[in-house]
Amino acid sequence: LSGDQVIVVSNREPYIHERTADGIIVKRPASGLVTAVEPVMRACSGTWIAHGSGTADREVVDGRDRVRVPPGHEEYWLRRVWLTAEEEKGYYYGFANEGLWPLCHVAHVRPVFRESDWEAYRAVNQRFADAVVAEATGDDPVVLVQDYHFALLPAMIREKLPEATILTFWHIPWPNPESFGICPWRRELLQGMLGSTILGFHTRFHCKNFTETVDRYLEARIEHEHSTIAYREKETLVESYPISIEWPAPEQVERWGSIAQCRERVTARLGLPEDMCLAVGVDRFDYTKGILERLNAVERLLEKRPHLIGRFVFVQVAAPTRNSLDEYRNFQEHVQRVTDRINLRFERDGWRPVHLLAHHHEPHAVMELFRAADICVVTSLHDGMNLVCKEFVAARDDLQGVLVLSRFAGAVRELPEALIVNPYHVEETADALYSAATMPPGEQRERMASLRSTVHEYNVFRWAGRMLADAGRGRLRNRIEA
Ligand code: G6P
Repeated sequence: LSGDQVIVVSNREPYIHERTADGIIVKRPASGLVTAVEPVMRACSGTWIAHGSGTADREVVDGRDRVRVPPGHEEYWLRRVWLTAEEEKGYYYGFANEGLWPLCHVAHVRPVFRESDWEAYRAVNQRFADAVVAEATGDDPVVLVQDYHFALLPAMIREKLPEATILTFWHIPWPNPESFGICPWRRELLQGMLGSTILGFHTRFHCKNFTETVDRYLEARIEHEHSTIAYREKETLVESYPISIEWPAPEQVERWGSIAQCRERVTARLGLPEDMCLAVGVDRFDYTKGILERLNAVERLLEKRPHLIGRFVFVQVAAPTRNSLDEYRNFQEHVQRVTDRINLRFERDGWRPVHLLAHHHEPHAVMELFRAADICVVTSLHDGMNLVCKEFVAARDDLQGVLVLSRFAGAVRELPEALIVNPYHVEETADALYSAATMPPGEQRERMASLRSTVHEYNVFRWAGRMLADAGRGRLRNRIEA
């Protein structure tokens, strides 16, 4: 694809410019999508189109709403699309996050589908399609469409740029046809997605669910052998591409500081003795992440193993997210109440078992925490992939630390050396925490070495590389046929 123009479209921007009392600061959002796509974009340059959500975003762009990023390195263009409060309410909060998010995660939160949200979703998808067309320098750019905010975008782009190569990646799970079928606009969403040249999911299971959903609701021709779907004379390859992270370079690891330094800084900051067994969780403050289940497991652990009282601490970083939605605010309050209850029950002599840090942490602070920890707990109730577990593994060049991982995260297929749990089973999770807390260093080393070799090899460039190679083959075929 060398020489081809690459355009990425996502809702969330990789850099947010915020106005503060000290001037403009640049923040990195807590987003698995951004974590994965940004290194790829830095490597292939091009243009990233995203919603401008920061308070100072408008101050830093040029006349075409663009700014060079990353700040100080300037490797690609970030083009912002400005959404009105009304558009954001209907398209982002409404249809994407009250409708599609719970629909696809099947997380026991009832999806809400409003006609007005659907209208906004359609209109905003059209606005991003217009931005892609405006940014395209030729008639066959490579467009990387990201996630459930843009199910309609592929077909809209295809209409204006029939020669474009459109790679759509769905970062969240795809449910079975019955579950998906409750969406009143199921056909339109599927038709929109089938405008893609390639449609990627994290796992084969999600590909299978998608193909079965198409089979149920559209008149399409499905070629199981080639993993393709032909619809209205267009063919889409449906393939699994497990997403990952950028493997840290040695200079990066050096910047984090040694394991001992990280441990010292973290324990000093939180006021903990250094010999504490430290377990950490790092998530967006989202009801799909299993944070309540995790707290219940910590409580059960302390009930069953009282000798850990005063010696075990669980630190949960929870980055505030989608706070305008009741479901999120209620969930966050609920987690706070459960945290307070557990702390009240067990605290003594200045020690408390749970530290809930419900504010944004920059990537550097997260890595420091991972390097300081004995255990990392990922208990998603359902997750497309989950990159937190891969980041923890990448942080541990000392080959120590134990990963406790939900069987309902896509990552479980690649990381079998973790302690795998069903987060709904409190007893099982509590026992896994105990096994983690008491695991001999030799076993930790063996498991961690194996986890690290997987994440190192199957890094984010492998994810993007496989998708782009499939696209490149398709383009070559088309050129030969033409
Ligand atoms: C998940 C979604 C992403 C989203 C991220 C952060 O990873 O798949 O599309 O960007 O969460 O959520 P937010 O709503 O803040 O963008």
